[in-house]
Amino acid sequence: MSLTLNIIGAGRLGRTLGRLWQQRGFFRIQSICNHSPQSAETARNFIGAGSVCDSIGTMENADCWLIATGDRQIAGIAEQLGPRLNDRDNAVVFHCSGALGSEILSPCRPAATASAHPVHSFADPEKSLCNLAGSTVALEGDRSAIELLQRAFTALDCELLTIDSSKKALYHAGSVFACNYLTALMDLSLRTFSAAGIERERALELLKPIVLQTAGNNMAMGPEQSLTGPIARGDVDTVRRQLAALAQTDTQLAQCYRQLGLTCVELARHNQLPGPLAEQLIDLLSEPPR
Ligand SMILES: NC(=O)c1ccc[n+]([C@@H]2O[C@H](COP(=O)([O-])OP(=O)(O)OC[C@H]3O[C@@H](n4cnc5c(N)ncnc54)[C@H](OP(=O)(O)O)[C@@H]3O)[C@@H](O)[C@H]2O)c1
Repeated sequence: MSLTLNIIGAGRLGRTLGRLWQQRGFFRIQSICNHSPQSAETARNFIGAGSVCDSIGTMENADCWLIATGDRQIAGIAEQLGPRLNDRDNAVVFHCSGALGSEILSPCRPAATASAHPVHSFADPEKSLCNLAGSTVALEGDRSAIELLQRAFTALDCELLTIDSSKKALYHAGSVFACNYLTALMDLSLRTFSAAGIERERALELLKPIVLQTAGNNMAMGPEQSLTGPIARGDVDTVRRQLAALAQTDTQLAQCYRQLGLTCVELARHNQLPGPLAEQLIDLLSEPPR
């Protein structure tokens, strides 16, 4: 007989996982509680199972509890849920935030707690039903909770990654660099093109092939081998001219160019940039000068 799962916050992620687990027969979805009962009803219809509850207090006992509210609500929900769990239940409580660790669920002890972060966008639950398979889920928390969740996500054909609980913030920062900061870099690039008199639409058009190609190269060869451009070539004069032009235009652009340039020098060093050229570039890019 399948284990029972209660969902608090059956939004985009919660309803998608709920439906997939119900369909695969891994969990039987039991009670669903959202902020509004109407939204919980919509989630219930999407999942095709479960009963709607208007408060945590009216939810049945379950083997496993998923708290899939927004990150800001998780601590408060854990406080509300804790008092109704006891050690006879052997329950597992988990959330799916990438930013928060399982320790935020400590009010739910004696239940075993964990976090399980699917590296996937649930923007469109219908699409996620088809393409969640193959996504990686990063797990941390109590061993018994991790073991259950490993089986649960394997049943959805996900890849698994176990991370050290004390490293959760670093794990999440890793994604922020590659995803959110890539977006910030695009904005810096467009601002610089705009200062050069190239309008946004035209700049996006010219960037598209080279940005996608760079992303592909990085995935295939890693950053050291993918770095091209003036720093990789040790072209100190070009870097000096670009830095001067940026400094005259926008101090934030110049600051970012310096910081990221120093990271590029480190990469280029691993790829045969001669030491003396690396030293000149570091002097140029450091602020204040070394
Ligand atoms: N979306 C993603 O791509 C994604 C990816 C990885 C991880 N995650 C994580 O998954 C979790 C959920 O994200 P999401 O995007 O699915 O959020 P979402 O679509 O905004 O859904 C949040 C749900 O929580 C419910 N809720 C809010 N406050 C509540 C309360 N006090 N009691 C009961 N239910 C409450 C909301 O109810 P109403 O509908 O009634 O407002 C809504 O159904 C977050 O921890 C997020 O970090 C999301």
